[in-house]
Amino acid sequence: MNRRSFLALAAGGAAVASATALRSGWSAGPRRNISSATTSVVRSKAGVLELDLVAQETAIRIPGTSGRALTYNGLLPGPQIELQPGDAVRIHLHNRLNQPTNLHYHGLHIPPDGTADNVFLRVAPGQQQSYSFSLPANHPAGLFHYHPHHHGTVADQVFGGLGGALLVRGDLDRNPEVQAAQEEVLVLKDLPAANERSGSGVMLGREGSVLSVNGQVNPELQVAAGGLLRLRLLNASNARFWRLALEGHTMHLIATDGGALEEPVPLQELLLVPGERADVLVQVTPKGGRFRLNRLPYRRLGRPGMGGMGMGRAGSSQGQADVIATVTTIGAVAPQPLPQQLLAVEELPSPVRTRRFVMNHGMAPGMGMAFLLNGQSYNHARIDTRVQLGDTEDWELVNTGVMDHPFHLHVNPMQVVSRNDRPEAYRAWRDVVLVRPGETVRVRTRFSDFAGKSVYHCHILDHEELGMMGNILIEG
Ligand code: C2O
Ligand code: CU
Ligand code: CU
Repeated sequence: MNRRSFLALAAGGAAVASATALRSGWSAGPRRNISSATTSVVRSKAGVLELDLVAQETAIRIPGTSGRALTYNGLLPGPQIELQPGDAVRIHLHNRLNQPTNLHYHGLHIPPDGTADNVFLRVAPGQQQSYSFSLPANHPAGLFHYHPHHHGTVADQVFGGLGGALLVRGDLDRNPEVQAAQEEVLVLKDLPAANERSGSGVMLGREGSVLSVNGQVNPELQVAAGGLLRLRLLNASNARFWRLALEGHTMHLIATDGGALEEPVPLQELLLVPGERADVLVQVTPKGGRFRLNRLPYRRLGRPGMGGMGMGRAGSSQGQADVIATVTTIGAVAPQPLPQQLLAVEELPSPVRTRRFVMNHGMAPGMGMAFLLNGQSYNHARIDTRVQLGDTEDWELVNTGVMDHPFHLHVNPMQVVSRNDRPEAYRAWRDVVLVRPGETVRVRTRFSDFAGKSVYHCHILDHEELGMMGNILIEG
């Protein structure tokens, strides 16, 4: 069925097409669809992905902004990269910025050294760096995030616009119900407004007041009434939390940062912290209509339940919702079912050791106010944590401060065991875990496959820059 006949069918009102026919109908013609309208996609071919990425300041057309941003290849967000497990990846980064940069493959399980996920590389202005690695043949499918990671310039560069989505295709994508859904990748990014001073708010973490989805303000997403919509959300912001709800619909979480869940988890709202991703299915109501995807208010400062300071946090009605996208139905399909079962999530063995990481801010020698991990601010020459390749460890992440800190670990994903001793409701792979003031979150991870030096840090990137990062050496 082509687009014309689909539209004719849709115009008939009662007409119901099969999901498969609808999908091919959709993709045949132009549509005002978030991803196809605004995103450039680069897929690997015959096991190889080769791509040039030019980091530079360019003009952007996003209303409300200054009209300039830091981009890859002139695009905001950067091109969407799609890989298959086992692929050979060659990315040539050209630095046309006026400061050093590099690339990080957030969430990928690849080596932390050489020309793979090596965040210690420094690409000077005017230089180029080729990244070359292979994606393990057993790499889980998922949505990942590439962005700069040069300590000292990462927050400015991500806040300035740099970053993009990286999809690994595989296991979960082969689930028949998931496969039948209309898939949309949504890169969520706030940008400073034209009149906003970009230097303020660093202590809390800078937020811009222009909310963009794939580089558009409140784009429209067309779906079929009754159809299944798969939203793959990436928080590509420097510091902003995106607390999301879709009017009139329940979201069913099918995957977190690191891959699939065992079964869908229904959610009325979803909180995405910086660097975090979520994969949700929505059964679009057969009644059809227009539905706002809202960002609900969230305050990152204050202890919950502490005299007024916690007001305005998630759950409070204070503040206004922002409409970040609008879902509009066009035509209808027979209601599509949700999957019952997804994929097994491995239960990690008992930990050989438990470590503690205390997050707070405080005074640091030579830095003034800094953000600290176990009382220390980041030192690139110091190894803070030494672990053995193959070991499973529990890490107790303790927030003794008054601001939220999303804790991120490179290379190896984590599973949350408990939050303030309350066991986590379901098993899931994550690489960013929110730790609220007064909270202790216990996570479990296994240092698999790759030895080398890497980092963990707060993913409010201004906090990372202000010291909340540590070096980990995986010895093997
Ligand atoms: Cu997305 Cu170390 O970062
Ligand atoms: Cu990362
Ligand atoms: Cu933080």
